[in-house]
Amino acid sequence: MSAPRGQFSSNIGFLMAAAGSAVGLGNIWGFPTNVAANGGAAFVLAYLVLAFLLAYPALMAELTIGRHARRNMVQALRGIATGPTSRFFGGLAGFGGIVVASLILSFYAIVAGWMVAHLVGPFASLAGAEGAVEWLTGNSTARNLTFTAIFSGMTMLIIASGVEKGIERWSTLLMPALIVLLLLLIVYVLTQPGAMQGLEAYLMPDFSLFSPQLMVSAMGQAFFSLSLGVGTMLIYGSYLSRQESLPRLGALVTLIDVGIAFTAGLLILPAMYVAQEAGTRIYADSGELIAGPGLILQVLPALFDTMGTAGLFVAIAFFALMVIASLTSSISMLEVPVAFAIENLNVPRRLATPLVGIIIFAISSVIIFNFDALFGLVVSASTEFGQPLLGVALCIFAGWIWRRDQLLAELREGHPGIEHTLFWKIWPWYVRIVCPLLILAAFVQSVM
Ligand code: PFF
Repeated sequence: MSAPRGQFSSNIGFLMAAAGSAVGLGNIWGFPTNVAANGGAAFVLAYLVLAFLLAYPALMAELTIGRHARRNMVQALRGIATGPTSRFFGGLAGFGGIVVASLILSFYAIVAGWMVAHLVGPFASLAGAEGAVEWLTGNSTARNLTFTAIFSGMTMLIIASGVEKGIERWSTLLMPALIVLLLLLIVYVLTQPGAMQGLEAYLMPDFSLFSPQLMVSAMGQAFFSLSLGVGTMLIYGSYLSRQESLPRLGALVTLIDVGIAFTAGLLILPAMYVAQEAGTRIYADSGELIAGPGLILQVLPALFDTMGTAGLFVAIAFFALMVIASLTSSISMLEVPVAFAIENLNVPRRLATPLVGIIIFAISSVIIFNFDALFGLVVSASTEFGQPLLGVALCIFAGWIWRRDQLLAELREGHPGIEHTLFWKIWPWYVRIVCPLLILAAFVQSVM
């Protein structure tokens, strides 16, 4: 007998949860640093186009399959299969999603742990505990283990409370807070000397920088940012009521995600140039803008340091923003294996959550102890290989394997008359042919 399934209580609840999954470190850190590394506004433009032309259709595939099946990715893909072969591949892709979601969480929790440590740092500073500040903002194994454990614990607490009381309640609380913090920080940074130069670097496109590599990076960014391929959106779709229009909700999630990434650029790039004005180096020896961890963990803290006591509060606001963004994303990743354990292994949620959470924390610990060898490897295996290949599998299931009449029936729920819309004229062909081909082309380009 299976446990009763959770459900989002309203479409706003779903929207906050799905947008919360999408909006994360990928928006506030990944997107602006990609912009910095790929020639400013040319990347912004490529990203906007790919988010709507590629990521949105793939998102729709996940949401529709999930809401139809009302099950986790393994059972959902097996359920829409039409014979033993497709059932086998459905199960395989479903397991792949669970493994890749867990791997993404294992490195994501480490990075989010850094954010929690940097959030605690200013409080220690206000308390005059300078030794503690050094430990918190240094880079020791003990610090990393401690804060990965704290962040993983927070993720588990929310997931253990279930869909409505955990995921929905916390996302609805945290997402507005995220937007307010982001806007306050932008207003503050834009009034500082040097900010306008950063805005210019962000918003003036240099089209000579368009290249296949730029398009591949933009596609990877869009896929990661919309949490695609690994079944997070599928499982959130499975908790969604049949009264809501899927194409409309999917479009809103995409808009919020893209909107917040774009808005985060208005904070991060100007902040870099403000830091330069205040005497911090923002160009690496190679002559490129510092991107990677150095940007968030060195350039910005150096900037906050130059601001005196006000800097402590700006640092608190900034790292609180990062922690909130991470948490609403990490819960969606943990929900993928937890839902599988609940539905396929019949383990109750309150037990499944710590069990799965501890296994993933163990993986994070192995990465922390072998950071140089494993961190980059896990990031690229999960996001450069796992996500695109599973994305192709999901498009193939939605476009080729699932019976078209069932697909249409599911989309009609909450959107009567959808068969007469432009969406229905384009999308089925799109997920069938354009999406898999584009994703594969970009994948081949990136591995070569
Ligand atoms: N979308 C999240 C971000 O932009 O940070 C990352 C993410 C969440 C990726 C969930 C994958 C996932 F399943």
